[in-house]
Amino acid sequence: MSESKKCLVCDSNVEPFVSFGKMPIANGFLREDEFSKESFYDLAVGVCVGCKMVQLTELIDPSKLFHENYAYFSSTSQGMRKHFQAFALEALNQTTERSDRFVLEIGSNDGIMLRNIAEAGVRHLGVEPSENVAKAAIASGIQTRCCFFDSKSASQIRAEHGPADLILGANVICHIPDLHSLIQGVCTLLNKNGLFIFEEPYLGDIVNRTSYDQFYDEHFYYFSIQSLSELLNSYGLHIVNAQAQEVHGGSMRYTVCWAGDKTEAPALHSLKSREDQLGLDSLVKLNELKDRIEKSRDDLRSLLETLKGEGKRVVGYGATSKSTIVTNYGNIGPELVEYISDTTPTKQGKFNPGTHIPIMPYESFTANYPDYALLFAWNHREEIVEKEQHFLSQGGRFITFVPTVGIVD
Ligand code: SAH
Ligand code: TYD
Ligand code: ZN
Repeated sequence: MSESKKCLVCDSNVEPFVSFGKMPIANGFLREDEFSKESFYDLAVGVCVGCKMVQLTELIDPSKLFHENYAYFSSTSQGMRKHFQAFALEALNQTTERSDRFVLEIGSNDGIMLRNIAEAGVRHLGVEPSENVAKAAIASGIQTRCCFFDSKSASQIRAEHGPADLILGANVICHIPDLHSLIQGVCTLLNKNGLFIFEEPYLGDIVNRTSYDQFYDEHFYYFSIQSLSELLNSYGLHIVNAQAQEVHGGSMRYTVCWAGDKTEAPALHSLKSREDQLGLDSLVKLNELKDRIEKSRDDLRSLLETLKGEGKRVVGYGATSKSTIVTNYGNIGPELVEYISDTTPTKQGKFNPGTHIPIMPYESFTANYPDYALLFAWNHREEIVEKEQHFLSQGGRFITFVPTVGIVD
């Protein structure tokens, strides 16, 4: 791990506005015999005084995060499967009807999005560096290349497959510290009239909802339309549309093409004005966010302590990477949260990073309902509440902390 307080986009200074102290790797769920070798880094977020890009102040080598034991399998959520089906088909409909169309996805994980492109019979390739999830995609018949997407791999892909009519990405562009190499790769591959459509957690929603658990190692950048526009424009690319999405606690889907290929959607202008009002690049506004984050942390701890004092059982719902930040920043361990229930087999039987709360299969939850379920997967709240009607009818209650701490009615 190397310290970086210079902007990785433009080399100006990054002004930190919130610091979380030492954090473990957010997706680093571990066994008991691994506790002693757990590694920590300083988690702080800042804004670049030059290009206004919000980013982490410390860089972790991507190969430490994305590898053969990557914990996140995208297809575990049914809601996300539906979301990506609609995304893929909508994007495909916007491309030319060229018979030999080629669709590339950056960060294709277990194939949650590309399976829809494959099923439509369209030539495709996923680029996915985490070997275990890439293998799952390959096993279900999705063409996948196991490597990091960058300018170099893009040139190789171009030589082997030709230009791409559609380049897709979701929750991955913000993971890539070297944005210049990424965009150069996109430029190498994007066909004339081609589209680059990607969707990422949106800084506007983090600010509005105080969803500070989006700040963690894998999310190196926190994009706004304005900060991305400037960067893409410098490569002759242009954002022509931005569409707000509810997934992952508030995301933005950007449609990008070669400058001059298409006209801007009218909605773009008002979304940019809203960013000015929110002050997404203003240190004053970002410092106010910091104050709300500290209050959220304190409120959650005191609610959990109160419930403990009343002898209530609280378990976590969803061992998300986001929960690593909430538990470590709030110093919440097994004394306050008995275990975390999660449906992902590779997380079960392990412990959460840092505060070492056990991760248990979902069956433990249904076999013996707790009094309260702390909704770490708050971004899947609708899907979960719908599924947990029996828990609720037995008197169980959900606790949330976004946008503020409280018990869900
Ligand atoms: N797109 C999926 C997965 C998001 S998780 C979804 O939205 O559910 C982020 C994924 O990006 C991981 O699978 C990780 O291995 C991959 N990734 C990280 N850096 C990458 C890079 N440089 N190129 C391609 N994929 C990358
Ligand atoms: P998610 O919020 O998508 O990701 P992140 O790691 O990026 O914060 O993770 C959801 C986690 O919650 C995942 O480990 C699966 C688990 N989960 C359940 O256990 N039950 C559910 O009903 C859902 C929707 C998710
Ligand atoms: Zn910068």
